[in-house]
Amino acid sequence: MLAVAPHPVINSLAHWRGEFPVFDRAVYLNSCSLGALSRPARRRVERCLDQWDERGAANWYDVWWAALEELRSRYGRLVNASTGEIALQASISGILGVIGSGLDTTHRRRIVTTELDFPTVPYQWLPKDVEVVVLKSPDDIAVPVEQFARAVNAETALVATSHVCFTSGAIQDVHAIADVAHRAGALCLIDGYQAAGQIPVDVRALDVDFYLSGGLKWLLGGSGITFLYARAGTTGDVVPQATGWFAHREQFAFDPAHFTPYDDARRFETGTPALLSVSSQLGGLDVIEAAGVAAIRAATSALTEDLIAAAESRGVHAKVAANAAERTGIVMLPRIDPRADVARLAEAGFIVDARPGHVRVSPYFYNVADDHRALLEVLLDA
Ligand SMILES: Cc1ncc(COP(=O)(O)O)c(C=O)c1O
Repeated sequence: MLAVAPHPVINSLAHWRGEFPVFDRAVYLNSCSLGALSRPARRRVERCLDQWDERGAANWYDVWWAALEELRSRYGRLVNASTGEIALQASISGILGVIGSGLDTTHRRRIVTTELDFPTVPYQWLPKDVEVVVLKSPDDIAVPVEQFARAVNAETALVATSHVCFTSGAIQDVHAIADVAHRAGALCLIDGYQAAGQIPVDVRALDVDFYLSGGLKWLLGGSGITFLYARAGTTGDVVPQATGWFAHREQFAFDPAHFTPYDDARRFETGTPALLSVSSQLGGLDVIEAAGVAAIRAATSALTEDLIAAAESRGVHAKVAANAAERTGIVMLPRIDPRADVARLAEAGFIVDARPGHVRVSPYFYNVADDHRALLEVLLDA
């Protein structure tokens, strides 16, 4: 039974809305797909373009290098990791590929993942000569830790799952899942693309070996920039075979005959990151850091509860986790024809998305409770 309490929405961060010009034209409620563009992100990108124009390749040696180091360090601070435990890549799939190229599965052939993880997680392993166990969810919302415990054995190399499930918004008990993996001698990889930014993340407290996230959604950085946390103490044996000059510790020696990878997380990097995306992410982080992740979680949680309660009061029972503490800014509203609903909402100026059987509504700290009420009026009063 879903616990829903009317929730007074006091969004102490609502003043940030003015930094997101999309709200001049529309009500944006789709952050789990793509975070809204902020003025600080646009300014950083414009500065990067100006520097490209004014200084050309000279940017490589100072501005670009400094931006990459700044981003590794700020991503590290965000998840309580050191800069040396952070690698930059263009996509989550790219990171998974690099890890997959270095993980030794000779004696441990089992990879445990779930049907609620973004499919690019299992796709990484399905073409390989390993045993992929895809756990089923009993309720389409989460996978109980006991199921991981039953599937993880002495043959298991890796447990790979999500911090926040992209289909339901449910927060998984990552610490308990990591414990299951470690007891069996396996590593634990967490896809945190739907988590970092909207909920606090402390990779040390979670006790995970790999943690992946990036700019696209809750970190307000746009596409083309993601990061990997690789725990120094447990992932040292993983030396990628898919690699490049950014992984070489003498990168600028240009020596084609010898390859010596970094022994820190940079060995998971490959080639030149997209500097425009790095710039937009630095601007997005300006906002996230100034607002504060704890305050963002409080505001987003209050908005999420308000949306769920408002829908419930109108007879729509959201598909979300049973307890508020496990819910996030991804709210699935069951609908017969979600695509038609989304098109109708778009015409009325509301940006949401459709998933099979559901309209997906995704509030963030720049939303206000009136956004929900106005949305529900258009959605339900047709
Ligand atoms: C949880 C999660 N993981 C991974 C991805 C895909 O990542 P990428 O396109 O960077 O490989 C998505 C969606 O964009 C996602 O929601």
